[in-house]
Amino acid sequence: MKARSSFLIVANRLPVDRVVGADGAAAWRRSPGGLVTAIAPVMQRREGAWLGWHGAPGEEVKPFDHDGMHLVPVPLSAAEVELYYEGFSNATIWPLYHDVVATPIYSRVLWDAYRAVNDRFARAAAEVADENAVVWIQDYQLQLVPAMLRKLRPDLRIGFFLHIPFPPVELFWQLPWRREIVEGLLGADLVGFQRPGGAANFVRLCRRLLGLQHHRNEVELDGRRIRAEAFPISVDFSELDTLVREPSIVARAKEIRSELGEPEHMLLGVDRLDYTKGIGQRLKAFSELLADGAVKPGEAVFVQIATPSRERVEEYRRLRNSIELQVGRINGEHSQLGHQPVQYLHQSYNRRELAALYFAADVMVVTPLRDGMNLVAKEYIACRHDLRGSLVLSEFAGAADELKQAFSVNPYDVEGMKRAMLTAMRATPHELSRRMRSMRRRVATYNVDRWAGEFLAALEGG
Ligand code: ADP
Ligand code: G6P
Repeated sequence: MKARSSFLIVANRLPVDRVVGADGAAAWRRSPGGLVTAIAPVMQRREGAWLGWHGAPGEEVKPFDHDGMHLVPVPLSAAEVELYYEGFSNATIWPLYHDVVATPIYSRVLWDAYRAVNDRFARAAAEVADENAVVWIQDYQLQLVPAMLRKLRPDLRIGFFLHIPFPPVELFWQLPWRREIVEGLLGADLVGFQRPGGAANFVRLCRRLLGLQHHRNEVELDGRRIRAEAFPISVDFSELDTLVREPSIVARAKEIRSELGEPEHMLLGVDRLDYTKGIGQRLKAFSELLADGAVKPGEAVFVQIATPSRERVEEYRRLRNSIELQVGRINGEHSQLGHQPVQYLHQSYNRRELAALYFAADVMVVTPLRDGMNLVAKEYIACRHDLRGSLVLSEFAGAADELKQAFSVNPYDVEGMKRAMLTAMRATPHELSRRMRSMRRRVATYNVDRWAGEFLAALEGG
């Protein structure tokens, strides 16, 4: 095992999950998800290292190799999980950056923990990075790391990518530690965002808050030039496209429809159970379609998969209760013996089952109130080589910039959502294939390899 690497990823989580095998022994398994898929080949090519938390509080794990990647666990105590991860990351920054759809908590105790953990990540990265190495820091949990790391290791080339939205100046201004966060990000050479609007918000903020000069998307600080630019993340199109063609997946998709009672329309939502995703809003629209008689009982089933997420954070608990109450009400009012209009599954699924669900669904309903990108929308497109299926997509998801042929909705507009769902259900096969073909072209071209490749080219070339 080598001590130093010339290419480093620094993220809150490691790209592996601990699993317990049939023999009771613990092992690591590569986590699903786009980021890992995109970066793993680069890591393998460059003998890179990945620094991140391994998921268990209060446990020290030694660095290890897995799947051609050198993994360096960064420990978090139980108190840090509460204050840094659940607290400042997910009860302060997450709601603030998502348009304040929940009220952010501003607490000095949470901030102190965030700073201390960011400092630990920066020190660990400084230890592992080789001379002049390229370091790519990921997401909102680690916004102070770029500047902390630059201070320790000015020789490094540092990139940062924010996977969630970057808010307008007027919202960001609420943050008591706004200056520290912006200065933290400015430690990078390149700061990447999902949308051009996020990059523009950041540049504007640098000017307003710190009075920095800028030339288009470049900000000047202490004689350095920091570039802010959009790199919309994507999915591994060909992996999903190949997977969903497997006979066993096609058979499973058929089976799913039969288990649902062969409805005329199957609508599908797949999300982490998060208040930014607009799950309650889409269920309300669907229940009104049932109540109005626009959708007949037995005609449609709405399958909502909601992965458990951040369950100890108060807002997430509240959301879970409210969604479960809402589902209970809708089913109580509109079920018939043997048919429930909403199937709610508070569970995680593997990629194969998800692919089968995507292939089975007629209407994919993606209605976040705010979302950096939303990969579920792109995964659905990648799974529909049959050119069937419609996508109802919120204007507030980053994916809306690219998937212009989706049935676009404002999730705050219940009537508009009802209209869009009905139109999506009733569209002709010809109409659907026209829309799907063009969205597939986009996702196939701008896939996740391209995202990682373009970011790294900009970081290393610029
Ligand atoms: P976010 O990053 O906010 O969770 P995205 O839509 O961008 O939202 O990404 C979610 C990822 O998690 C997707 O790759 C999706 O397939 C996966 N996912 C969502 N729900 C589930 C689930 N129930 N089981 C397994 N994976 C899921
Ligand atoms: C979003 C964030 C990621 C995060 C993921 C899952 O995609 O941008 O940084 O890892 O949600 O959330 P979790 O809190 O479980 O890591």
